Amino acid sequence: MIDYTNPNLIIETAKIEPGKIAWRSPSNIALIKYWGKHGRQLPSNPSISFTLDHAFTETTLEYAPKTGVDQGIDLQFFFHKEEQPAFKAKIQKFLESIHDIFPFLRQLHLTIRSGNSFPHSAGIASSASSMSALALCLCSLEHELFGTLESDQDFHNKASYIARLGSGSACRSIYSHLAVWGKTSIAPNSSDEYAVEYSDVNDIYKSFQDSILIVSAKEKSVSSRAGHALMENNVFAKPRFEQARMRLNRLSESLKSGDLEAFGTIVEDEALTLHALMMASTPSYLLMEPNSLNIINEVRAFRKETNLPLYFTLDAGPNIHLLYPGYIRDKVLKFQEEVLLPYCEDNMWIDDHVGIGPIELDSDSEVAQ
Ligand code: PMV
Repeated sequence: MIDYTNPNLIIETAKIEPGKIAWRSPSNIALIKYWGKHGRQLPSNPSISFTLDHAFTETTLEYAPKTGVDQGIDLQFFFHKEEQPAFKAKIQKFLESIHDIFPFLRQLHLTIRSGNSFPHSAGIASSASSMSALALCLCSLEHELFGTLESDQDFHNKASYIARLGSGSACRSIYSHLAVWGKTSIAPNSSDEYAVEYSDVNDIYKSFQDSILIVSAKEKSVSSRAGHALMENNVFAKPRFEQARMRLNRLSESLKSGDLEAFGTIVEDEALTLHALMMASTPSYLLMEPNSLNIINEVRAFRKETNLPLYFTLDAGPNIHLLYPGYIRDKVLKFQEEVLLPYCEDNMWIDDHVGIGPIELDSDSEVAQ
């Protein structure tokens, strides 16, 4: 196990000038899903995801030496320019939980401003993008104060580890194109404690499109946190974790070869398995909506009729991610417009694609509004 606790990361407050750090970090969509965890946010099976591009969070972290002597985290928090007590409490709790890793945080006055590129009401989980953006800011701050994270690998591993503590799947958003989280033979450098970039893939996947169809913008009735917990007593848990491992091995072959049919079959099976696990929990619950099923059926009919490689996946919610290679984009957009958008709330969708991962922003930049 990695031990990032470091009591030496303490500053001489008198020598510290106020400063500001800013990162943009994208969301990600899992192809093999993480569903079930143990210990301190450790996954029960390895997972792999596409890093997205247009669905992102921008976060700035302003810091100044504290004048008072209180021992807690001194935080001001703004989301889209407004104070949000519920979000603030969550971030404050998270920062307290990692004070042994970043002890200097208790010596600073912190102002965090955050904003998403997508509407808050789009029903898109923002924890992956927001927690990865925050983790990147914290690691940049450590490096700025102590010069400790010089190599890219050290920086990325630690940022991914910290993001994981905030929200499991967030650890995969640190990397470009594809990321693997969890020990697996397909990536020798993989770990349960942080994600790694996965680059043994055919180029076709690097420009894959993701149309995120917003079936419902309502908040989920069962949170991911509660969903993971329900896996503990799910009778299918053990075979499920084994299945995820096997599917990941098979998926890695289709990622390498560019076999889109094999890719799509595994990815769709995974999405439906995730939701089947929810239905098979005690108590059972359903996050898909009738229109999620209507879209799935339409996508399968379209594929049968056209032979085009259009596939779907879902997160822990009713929205559908359409995954397809860039060269069929025009045909998919036409089909989407005519057939699928009427199943969406207010015809809402997000035009996304596989992206290059987080970028550090100029510290003068205003975060997404
Ligand atoms: O990172 P969490 O705790 O929000 O869980 C995410 C779970 C899924 O999105 C359903 C799957 C995944 O691997 O991202």
